[in-house]
Amino acid sequence: MTDNNSLLQFFAHYIESQLGIVYMEANYFQLEHRLKDIASQLGLSGIEELHQKARIGIEGQMKGLILDLATNNETSFFRDGSIFKALSEYMVPALCQTSPKNRLSLWSAASSSGQEAYSIAMELAELQAKNSATPGFSMLVSDISDTILKRAKEGKYSQLEIQRGLPAKLQEQYFEKLENDYWKVKSSLQSHMEFKKLNLLGDWGSIGPFDIIFVRNVLIYQSVENKKKVIAHMHEKLNPGGFLVLGAAESLFGLSDKFKQVAHNGAIIYQRL
Ligand SMILES: C[S@@+](CC[C@H](N)C(=O)[O-])C[C@H]1O[C@@H](n2cnc3c(N)ncnc32)[C@H](O)[C@@H]1O
Repeated sequence: MTDNNSLLQFFAHYIESQLGIVYMEANYFQLEHRLKDIASQLGLSGIEELHQKARIGIEGQMKGLILDLATNNETSFFRDGSIFKALSEYMVPALCQTSPKNRLSLWSAASSSGQEAYSIAMELAELQAKNSATPGFSMLVSDISDTILKRAKEGKYSQLEIQRGLPAKLQEQYFEKLENDYWKVKSSLQSHMEFKKLNLLGDWGSIGPFDIIFVRNVLIYQSVENKKKVIAHMHEKLNPGGFLVLGAAESLFGLSDKFKQVAHNGAIIYQRL
């Protein structure tokens, strides 16, 4: 019989190998609680049976549930709002000036349930409405979690989620009301988006190149080595002069010297050199 700590260690190692997220032993009680929940969702008697099955192979629903337990999906509309102003007031004009084009290519990497991607799309649509010379755009929307990506693609939000950051004017313009106080994003906004499951630490397949990449509030959980790898890979995927956008508490300090830091009205963004 395997002791409880070794069982938890087994799952902690699996999570680290897949996501780069490290579960410290001090947090094993949290891991245990979540694994018990997964075992019950899968109709198993407990962590021991989950472990027996996992040793044979972690696939399908079990894999999805285990990876979901380790990821933090916190997000909201127009999170850290100054970034969205920097998008319409600085990044798009700068890109249009250096290499005029009809369509900008964007990537919302680790987009969670989609609020980030739809906020970007609304900011750009509003800019186009004000200035018809604004280029169109296409956007890759990705996350590692099937469950959360499905939600992003669905574009359906509760009133509570809507209240977290979405101005009433934009709610009225870009969302339609469903039953039970749910709101769905209009298809006009979604038509520019492609949704793809993608692990930032894995193989990205053939994506890009992009003019702007948003990778916010995800690398914060990674080791410096993993952060450097992802940033270097994103550098390759950006067009010259393209922009990289990190979370408000994140920076490229010590991770890459291949970007120029730009400050715009309280927002910090990075431009590919
Ligand atoms: C805190 S949310 C950030 C959402 C959004 N970018 C924002 O800032 O509001 C982090 C997201 O990163 C995803 N994630 C975690 N590890 C990942 C990885 N290795 N590859 C891709 N996505 C990952 C999670 O599933 C989660 O949806």
